[in-house]
Amino acid sequence: MPMYAENFVEELKDRVDLYDLISPYVQLKKSGAKWVGLSPFNQEKTPSFYVDSIKGFFHCFSSGEKGDALSFVQKVENLTFPEAIEFLANRFSIPIRYADNATGKSNSYRKSIKSDLYEVQELAMTWFAEQFHLKNDESKVALDYWITQRKFSLEDASQFGIGYAPVDRFALSRYLEKKGINDTILSKSGLFNEKKQSGQFASRFCGRLMIPIREKIGRVCGFTARLLSVTPVWGDRKSPKYVNSPETPIFLKGDLLFNLHLANKEIDESKEFILVEGQLDAIRCWLEGFKTVVAPQGTAFKDSQAMLMRKSSPKGVVCLLDGDEAGQKAAFSYIPTFLRVGLDARFTSLPEGKDPDQILLEQGPEGLTKILEQGVSSIEYAVRYKLNGKNNPQASEIRAISELVFSSISEVDSLIMRDSYLKELSRHLKVSFQTMNEEFIQFNRSKKPKYKGNNTKSATISTKNSSPRLTTAEDDLLFCLLHDDRVASPLAQIFDPTWLNLEIPAGRILAKIMAETKADGPIEANRMEEFLEDDSERNVFQQNYFQEVSSFDENSFLQHANECLLALFIRSIKQKEKKILHDLDKPADGVDSLITLRHELLELRKNRKHPPKLIFSDKPTRYSHA
Ligand code: UTP
Ligand code: MN
Repeated sequence: MPMYAENFVEELKDRVDLYDLISPYVQLKKSGAKWVGLSPFNQEKTPSFYVDSIKGFFHCFSSGEKGDALSFVQKVENLTFPEAIEFLANRFSIPIRYADNATGKSNSYRKSIKSDLYEVQELAMTWFAEQFHLKNDESKVALDYWITQRKFSLEDASQFGIGYAPVDRFALSRYLEKKGINDTILSKSGLFNEKKQSGQFASRFCGRLMIPIREKIGRVCGFTARLLSVTPVWGDRKSPKYVNSPETPIFLKGDLLFNLHLANKEIDESKEFILVEGQLDAIRCWLEGFKTVVAPQGTAFKDSQAMLMRKSSPKGVVCLLDGDEAGQKAAFSYIPTFLRVGLDARFTSLPEGKDPDQILLEQGPEGLTKILEQGVSSIEYAVRYKLNGKNNPQASEIRAISELVFSSISEVDSLIMRDSYLKELSRHLKVSFQTMNEEFIQFNRSKKPKYKGNNTKSATISTKNSSPRLTTAEDDLLFCLLHDDRVASPLAQIFDPTWLNLEIPAGRILAKIMAETKADGPIEANRMEEFLEDDSERNVFQQNYFQEVSSFDENSFLQHANECLLALFIRSIKQKEKKILHDLDKPADGVDSLITLRHELLELRKNRKHPPKLIFSDKPTRYSHA
C-alpha cells in the first residue's frame, strides 16, 4: 500500500531547490553551472562536494556519496525516508499528499507530532513579536528595556525574533486555540504549565522578554524568557532571571546551541566558534561582527553539544567565560568534553564581573578581540587554573595537577593526540616528557574505567535493585532498549555487532535482539526471552527488565542510549586502532600488507569522525516507501 499520493515524491523533489536546501550545511561557491563546497560527510581540505541545482543532484567525490534532495537530508540529518519527506515538506512549506487509502489522521502514517510542534513555536514567536510592538503600557516596558537599558535596536529585535509575553497568562492559549491548535500539541509544546487552570492552558512565560531558540537549521524549537520589571510574582517564590522551555520532543537541550544556525553560515576550517554563556551575549557578539558565536542553554555543556560544533569542521572553539570562580570552574569542566570529542579548544577569561555584552558596549569589538587573542589551550588553561598563580609548585602539587589532567587525557581516543597533550602538559609543568608519560601510564593502570570493556569479571550486575549497578555500556544500552520501545528499530538500523563485547551476557543479548529486529522488525519483550540461552543471560535480562526507571524521563532515554552507543563505538575504534598500530609495529610480511594496514588505519580514523547517533521518531519506523 503506497503511503504518498502518486507522483508526490517526484513533485516534492522538483520543488526543492537543492542550493537552498544544502547551503545552510555547506558553504557553496559557484563553479560553472554548479556549486561546490567542502563535503558535509567527511573532513576535507579541498572542496569536492558538487551540487547541481538544475538537475537536482549532489555528488561528493571524496566519499562517493551522491543523490538527490531526499537522500541528502536522510544522510545529513540521519532520517528515515518518511522523516526526510516530512522534513523537506516542512522546510519548503509543501503540503504532503497521501494516497487516498492512507489519509485518515487515525493511522500510523499520520505526520509526526514534531512538525506540529515546530509550527506552534513559530506561531508563538510571531505572536510574541506582535505583542512586543503593541506599544501599550505593558509592552512599552519590554521595548524600553530592550532599547534603553540593553542598547539594542528594533532592527536587532526583528533579526532575532525578539518578543514579549504578556502578563495575562491565558492570552497565548486563547490565540493558539483560535488558530486551531489542539490540546495535545498545546500540552506538549512546552509553552504552558502542565495542568490546565480553570479549563485553560496557562502560559509558562508571563511578563517576560522572549528570545526564540532555533535548532541547527534555523527552526524555532523553544524560548528563553528574561525577567522584566512587569514580570508577575506568584506567591513568595522569587522569579528566576531566565525561564526556559522545558525539554520537548523538539527541544532537547543537549542537542542545541543558541545561534548555531547563523554561526554555521560563517564557520570554516580557518575559523573558531566563540562560546559564550548567555543568549543575549551571543546576540550582541553576532551583531558586533563576531558571527561564529554560540551559547549553550544554561551552563550545563554536553558532549553532544561539542559534537554539534565539531560536525561543522571548525578550526576549533574559543570559550569566553566569566572571570569569576563559577566561570572558571565551568571552563574547567568543559575540558574533558572537548578532549573526548576532539575539538580544539582555547580558553580566555573575562575581567571579573563583566560579560561579553558589557565588554562590547564599553570597549567595542577591539576590546573583545584583544580578550579573544589571549586564549590559551585546554591543557595550559587547566594547569594555570590549578596552579592559581603559583610560579614554583611543589612536586606534590605537580603530581596532583597532572592527575587531574590525566583523567581528561585518558578519554582522548587518538593516541597521537594523547601524546601531544602529554607533551604540552610536561612543558607547562616543566617536567620531562618521559617522566610525564610514565606517570600517565601508571595513572591509567591504577584508574578504574567507567565502562569496563573486556573485563568480564567486573561486569556482573548486582542482584538487588537497591544496590548500585555496576554496569557496562552494553548493560546500559540493553536497559534503554527494554524500557523504551522507540529505541530498538532505529538502533537496529545503525548498529554494528562488532562494537559489542560478546563475552558478557548483555553483549550477547543485544547482539541477538539487534539481529532479530533488523530481520523482522521490533520484538515484544516477552518474545525476547525466547532468545536467551543460559542462566547468566536470563539473569541479566531480568535484572535490566525489572530495574526501576524512576530517574528516567522520556528524553533521557534518547540521551542515554546515545551515550552508550558513543561509548561502544569509541571503545571499538580504540581496540581496532590499537590492533592495527600493533600490527604495524611488527615486521610486515610484505609492502602490500603495510599499505593495507595504513589504509585501514586511515579508514578507521575517518570513521571515527562519524559516531553513530540514534534519532527517535514518534511513530514506528516500519513504513512502506512510495
Ligand atoms: P547570566 O546570569 O550570566 O545572565 O546567565 P546574562 O546572560 O548575562 O543575562 P543578562 O545580561 O543579565 O540578561 C547566563 C545564562 O545562564 C542561563 C541563561 O541561558 C543565561 O543567558 N540562566 C541564567 C538560566 O537559564 N536561568 C537563570 O535564572 C539564569
Ligand atoms: Mn549579561
